[in-house]
Amino acid sequence: MRQIIPFNDNWNFHKPGEPAVAVTLPHTWNAIDGQDGGNDYWRGTATYSKLFAKPELKDGERCFIEFCGAAMTADVILNGDHLAHHEGGYSTFRVDLTEALEEDNLLVVSVDNSANDRVYPQMADFTFYGGIYRDVKLIVVPAEHFELLKDGTPGIKVTPEVRLRERDAYVAVETWSNGGSEVWLEIPTEHGKEFRKAEIGNGHTYTNIILKNVHLWDGVNDPHLYTVTAKLVKNGEVVDEISARFGCREFHIDPEKGFFLNGRSYPLRGVSRHQDRIGLGSALTLKEHEEDMAVVRELGANTLRLAHYQHAQEFYDLCDENGIIVWAEIPYISKHMTNGKANALAQMKELITQCYNHPSIVCWGLSNEITASGTVTEELLQDHRELNELCHELDSTRPTVMAHAFMLEKDSPLIPIADIASYNLYFGWYLGELTQNEQFFDEYHATYPDRVIGFSEYGADANTAFHSSQPEKGDYTEEYQCVYHEHILKLIEERPYLWATHVWNLFDFAADGRDEGGKKGENQKGLVEFDHKTKKDAFYLYKAAWSKEPFVHLCGKRYVDRVEEKTEIKVYSNCESVTLCVDGRKLETKSGRTVFPFTVPLTGEHKIEAVSGECRDSMTVRRVNTPNSSYLFRKQAVINWFDAADYDPSCYSIKDTMGALSQNPRTAAILGRMMKRMTASRGDVAKGANNNANLQKMMAGLSLESLIKQAGDSVPGEMIRSLNAALQQIKKES
Ligand code: GCU
Repeated sequence: MRQIIPFNDNWNFHKPGEPAVAVTLPHTWNAIDGQDGGNDYWRGTATYSKLFAKPELKDGERCFIEFCGAAMTADVILNGDHLAHHEGGYSTFRVDLTEALEEDNLLVVSVDNSANDRVYPQMADFTFYGGIYRDVKLIVVPAEHFELLKDGTPGIKVTPEVRLRERDAYVAVETWSNGGSEVWLEIPTEHGKEFRKAEIGNGHTYTNIILKNVHLWDGVNDPHLYTVTAKLVKNGEVVDEISARFGCREFHIDPEKGFFLNGRSYPLRGVSRHQDRIGLGSALTLKEHEEDMAVVRELGANTLRLAHYQHAQEFYDLCDENGIIVWAEIPYISKHMTNGKANALAQMKELITQCYNHPSIVCWGLSNEITASGTVTEELLQDHRELNELCHELDSTRPTVMAHAFMLEKDSPLIPIADIASYNLYFGWYLGELTQNEQFFDEYHATYPDRVIGFSEYGADANTAFHSSQPEKGDYTEEYQCVYHEHILKLIEERPYLWATHVWNLFDFAADGRDEGGKKGENQKGLVEFDHKTKKDAFYLYKAAWSKEPFVHLCGKRYVDRVEEKTEIKVYSNCESVTLCVDGRKLETKSGRTVFPFTVPLTGEHKIEAVSGECRDSMTVRRVNTPNSSYLFRKQAVINWFDAADYDPSCYSIKDTMGALSQNPRTAAILGRMMKRMTASRGDVAKGANNNANLQKMMAGLSLESLIKQAGDSVPGEMIRSLNAALQQIKKES
């Protein structure tokens, strides 16, 4: 029978120019420099080596090694023999070591994450960690065994088709093996067990098993899983055995009414997740995955977009077990590459082959914001068509989807290539007003009422050190993030046609090219900080809207010092009424839903308590005379960038729109230099989007002043004054 041997220990890691160090996998060499800003983390080729004794192999047994994640490309060399090359940093691959094995072995794995023009991702707003950052195992199998090599397959594929009216499921089970005469299949059920024998034809079996009165996989309410065990039989003897969990569910998506699960409306409301953590980078273990899932469950989300690549099998398993519906995707992102098609297709094939049996997954993401840094070319369209066809060939049960950049025209020929679509919108953060989000969707839905549309990303950066009683776009305050999400939550609740919505992002994550909002190397759009523990106030807004466990949360606990006489105290709660007490005395009781705002007079230091039944939360606020400057991200006030007195309206200034300033070649040159500067602190994608014609069209109506305001401290006051002075030298054409 097969043996699975953990193989994470006793590796030597060697980065050129540094002494070799002993490491235990999972490991990444960018855990620190990939999270500290500067866009300078080390990208190159490093090696992992290990000495090991040949495992005992009896009667033709074979020995494979399994890598669950080596980023971004890997070469496997055993005792000097180059055995395999794998391109793609997020999927499992296996290598047959048998022929090259000796009694004592030296295994060398050379791993590379340097930039290239063929392996995705190459441009994106997250750190491309290098290393063998997921588990490694040896798999010893008999001569006849279930398939191990092809696209990292599990060797078994389970396709349940639910008949809701009859309450039955028709479960097609396929297996692949390199020998044996038959496969015995077994599925324990609540009524006993289903057992079938299947003849092997060309190494393949196909068996249909009907589960009567099936126990459905019903999302967070009841994520029931079945397990099918497959035994490979040769001459009546079982020689190999594998098993797969699966769930029986039916889903469909209606352009008007949204997502349906097992016949009932089931709006998908959730968040996105990257696979990293402060100090660990991408080298996570089951412990970290379980902790992240606990945060998802506390939030009350029923869906996760696992961005922008294939995540660890352990995490998809957790989604199956917790009933969380998943959007899975490949890292075909931000910049299309002429030489990238083969790799995109290969990564998609591995994603579907390796993740097909997960009931939690309901769609395959072809790409994310692939038009962010360029235009829609026929080549780009063709690559998407082929990806789409590949998905349908490998999986006829799930739709394909794309996440589009907000500047992509709604009538783009790219959109209808996938079965369904979603948009990433950042109005009210990167540019424009909050109300443009609902305008966008209502226009799209009115223009294409038969198309399924979703909200694949939205979010605002917040640093929990920054606070304001007049929160505004671009101030990175915890309060503005709340204002932003309260607006979006409302528009989502009013638009059931949005098939799925995913907050960008559940956790702050590493984007080494970023340097903004008072932090380097981090995207701070998380509802939870990069430690995956510190929850921002906006986290509790969604918890109040989505979770069932009664609670009350006082917003603003980190905003103690306040200068105003009366201050707003907001409570997020899923209770129907909340009482606010100040210094032990009841101030007011409010009934309502999700958001409970109160106004509290401040005279000194006050103890604030929110109460609803058994639920309580408390904090302290203090009236101060001078603003606590540590709360301010932008140290200088915006308004005095230049003195109104010496402002000549007949000349250009930062008050003019982007459109007007780009008309005049002299002001356009100044603008171009400024845009470079403003996007520099936002990493590669923002830099790439600079030349995006649609983005320029969208920004044309916005004043340079509003964009500078949005760009945080990447443009210091002094520079704004000299910029305006330069523009004021240029007379407007009369
Ligand atoms: C994009 C992109 C994300 C990125 C996000 C952001 O939409 O898809 O990967 O992190 O914007 O700018 O925060």
